[in-house]
Amino acid sequence: MKLLQDVSSVRNFTQKRASKQKIGLVPTMGALHQGHQELLKASLQDNDLTICSIYVNPTQFNNPDDLNKYPRTLEHDLKFLEKIGCNAVFYPPNQVMYPGEEQQLLQLSFGHLDNVLEGQHRPGHFSGVGLVVTKLLNVVQPERAYFGQKDLQQLAIIRQMVQEFFIPVEIISVPIVRESSGLALSSRNQRLSFEEKQVATQLYQTLLFAQQQYESGVSLSTIKEQSINQFSRHANIRVEYFEAVRMRDFQILEEKMEADVIAFCVAAYVGEVRLIDNIIVS
Ligand code: PAJ
Repeated sequence: MKLLQDVSSVRNFTQKRASKQKIGLVPTMGALHQGHQELLKASLQDNDLTICSIYVNPTQFNNPDDLNKYPRTLEHDLKFLEKIGCNAVFYPPNQVMYPGEEQQLLQLSFGHLDNVLEGQHRPGHFSGVGLVVTKLLNVVQPERAYFGQKDLQQLAIIRQMVQEFFIPVEIISVPIVRESSGLALSSRNQRLSFEEKQVATQLYQTLLFAQQQYESGVSLSTIKEQSINQFSRHANIRVEYFEAVRMRDFQILEEKMEADVIAFCVAAYVGEVRLIDNIIVS
């Protein structure tokens, strides 16, 4: 596996490929787990070469404490990637990704997507995600790039951005990978204590409950109320939002819309750790 830390070595690597060889990019922030593995497996299957990027992108963290405490496990990650058969890993230092002194010179905005759910609760987050993903796509110039449905709104933002900037890449989405308890895998789960991890399963339990209620014809506003009530029974969970949104544009729904695919999305603190999850229903 090639270890790449600057732009010219990535370019060298990608230019040396045989003609018609396709490249898949899997962008990550490291602390790799089974969720990342599914993205990597999909890329390895679809492409001739897979590049994984590992970069804890400072511009997408609206909370400095979250950035400082974000798990960093490079040694484990490199072994993990080697074992799975990844062809190259790009793990640039900050000076490579943000060579200017002013890290956040360029800002991106995504209209309505910035004003709801993650956009509303993490100001500047999607600007940072958009910026770093554009940089990564420009450095690697892959034919395909892989993103998880775990970050459903991020996926929508990336699709919009790639379309608006005419970036010639196919965006592939991968379903959420969960523990047997239902807890969605996340690098942030490493920060949960044993007890907190048990409490955190409540996120998926409530999403399943919401799905069931939806299928029985209960109104969305009632489901929302009931779901938020369920969380209030657990002292260790603080819900930030629980919403039903229309998948195609992330409009928040209070009433069922026939023929629309919807998603229930939740963000909650379990102890000090902020977790997100979602379920798509139709
Ligand atoms: P990170 O949280 O490391 O996630 C990298 C990719 O893995 C994302 O596309 C995310 O949706 C996917 N992923 C994480 N957990 C998953 C799970 N349980 N099941 C399926 N996919 C999962 O998301 C980011 O990094 C960053 O915002 C990034 C896109 C790399 C930009 O900095």
